[in-house]
Amino acid sequence: MSVQVVAAKMAEVDLKDIPSGKGLPAGSPVSPATEGKNIVKNEASASAAMSPSAESSAKMPQASAMKRTDPQQNGGEAFVNRDGTVAEAPRMKKIQFADQKQEFSKRPSKIGRRSLSRSISQSSTDSYSSAASYTDSSDDETSPRDKQQKNSKGNGDFCIKTSNRLNSEMPALMALRKRAQGEKPLAGAKVVGCTHITAQTAVLMETLSALGAQCRWAACNIYSTQNEVAAALAEGGFSVFAWKGESEDDFWWCIDRCVNVEGWQPNMILDDGGDLTHWIYKKYPNMFKKIKGIVEESVTGVHRLYQLSKAGKLCVPAMNVNDSVTKQKFDNLYCCRESILDGLKRTTDVMFGGKQVVVCGYGEVSRKGCCAALKAMGSIVYVTEIDPICALQACMDGFRLVKLNEVIRQVDIVITCTGNKNVVVRENLDRMKNGCIVCNMGHSNTEIDVASLRTPELTWERVRSQVDHVIWPDGKRIVLLAEGRLLNLSCSTVPTFVLSITATTQALALIELYNAPEGRYKQDVYLLPKKMDEYVASLHLPTFDAHLTELSDEQAKYLGLNKNGPFKPNYYR
Ligand SMILES: NC(=O)c1ccc[n+]([C@@H]2O[C@H](COP(=O)([O-])OP(=O)(O)OC[C@H]3O[C@@H](n4cnc5c(N)ncnc54)[C@H](O)[C@@H]3O)[C@@H](O)[C@H]2O)c1
Repeated sequence: MSVQVVAAKMAEVDLKDIPSGKGLPAGSPVSPATEGKNIVKNEASASAAMSPSAESSAKMPQASAMKRTDPQQNGGEAFVNRDGTVAEAPRMKKIQFADQKQEFSKRPSKIGRRSLSRSISQSSTDSYSSAASYTDSSDDETSPRDKQQKNSKGNGDFCIKTSNRLNSEMPALMALRKRAQGEKPLAGAKVVGCTHITAQTAVLMETLSALGAQCRWAACNIYSTQNEVAAALAEGGFSVFAWKGESEDDFWWCIDRCVNVEGWQPNMILDDGGDLTHWIYKKYPNMFKKIKGIVEESVTGVHRLYQLSKAGKLCVPAMNVNDSVTKQKFDNLYCCRESILDGLKRTTDVMFGGKQVVVCGYGEVSRKGCCAALKAMGSIVYVTEIDPICALQACMDGFRLVKLNEVIRQVDIVITCTGNKNVVVRENLDRMKNGCIVCNMGHSNTEIDVASLRTPELTWERVRSQVDHVIWPDGKRIVLLAEGRLLNLSCSTVPTFVLSITATTQALALIELYNAPEGRYKQDVYLLPKKMDEYVASLHLPTFDAHLTELSDEQAKYLGLNKNGPFKPNYYR
């Protein structure tokens, strides 16, 4: 296992500058950014990591409410030094599996480095994607549940598969760590998390740990775990329960192992999809007595929280990160724009030019994400919508708005991104043409009615990991990707820099809820204060050597704004 640490540039700021939520004073001017320190990165993309010049000109607001001094923190070691300094070479670390005596070294030897480069240079076709899984030596058949695992310090409180790659490009999290020197805004926080377990999540967990939190983690998707990352986290002392290719039963087992542990009770939840929250509500409702808040990332999970709130059953405050401006404007859009083509290419090697594609839904993921990327590649794109406003946008962006049935016989690719259920049903699947590719970019596997394809007259043929041909009696086949689960996180990689924005928003939401004085947040669902959204964006600007214009006193007065923000009203989207 090789993990490499490389120098990068980032903003250097003080923790006191982190903005707080409602009612806190707007800020004092900021420390200028300087040369940044280090981030965990893979070898192949190291040179392209960050902008060469990263002087920050951003003004950072103050947030005294977030200071904590409790020194308690996670027992594990982070990959990146918590003080933000450059680690010249990673230490030797080993994970042992009692039943197979397998050892992995994180220290890259010359040969190790070579093989790492090789594996990374292949990553466009094989990394952790579906295309790769069938070449991944760690993809053995034995369930991780049947193995006795221990890290090099003898800790066995995790359950993972193994491997060898980690990368990151997350300047704002590095900046948060830097700010936390000597201050631990999450001291005493016990965060239980259920998110995609990727390199980006690892950097988030390390950051939470550096800020004083203890973390236990499970995966929110059975396919998206990067085994190498889970292994590296376990070695670093984190309790992680996840592997790529869990069964449904494994999925809930892992979540349960995260929360059902003697002598440890979570006091914060970080969820993506609402399954962890749902599990605690169902199995351990008493845990909510100690829980100070829930941070939820996905549209689906947020929907569940609003339902709980409406029914008067939400017993702690919750932060809706999904609808924060920075998440919507960056994650849903840029992440999908960059990864939809990647996911399709890796799994099917399809050519996009001239292909007819129908995209269901015209929201953030679809609109500027999938449709824009496919159009740019020369595909002929049709859109379906239920909402006249989004439908009109599709028309004015130059897409043909159709009902699914009108084009289903002719299209080469069908993509769902609605967050809804049964958008593509058996009747549609029956009418598709031979070779039609069907996939989903929404959070849940409910958008395509995959269960309806499990009938005796249809034959399933697995042609690659995550790629099934479903064959009709007349020989027609459709190509189903990731069994209807979200394509990009199951079958490709996603851009780290974009996820850095979401991860930073999550970290700030945890800090805000954990430190909020009694009464600031009630048992309801809240949006992150706008000032924090702006702060997250400002932390990412130095990477682009971007220079923000400052309002003059006269201009600020004219617009009725504080010079340090927030610059837009809370309803701004
Ligand atoms: N793959 C990823 O990386 C990624 C990233 C962010 C969000 N998501 C997920 O993608 C989904 C969509 O997110 P979004 O931000 O675009 O949401 P959104 O609400 O902006 O867009 C969804 C659109 O689908 C439309 N819709 C609903 N039911 C429909 C139906 N039956 N037919 C046609 N259109 C329908 C809605 O009117 C809406 O305009 C969510 O599940 C979200 O969690 C995925």
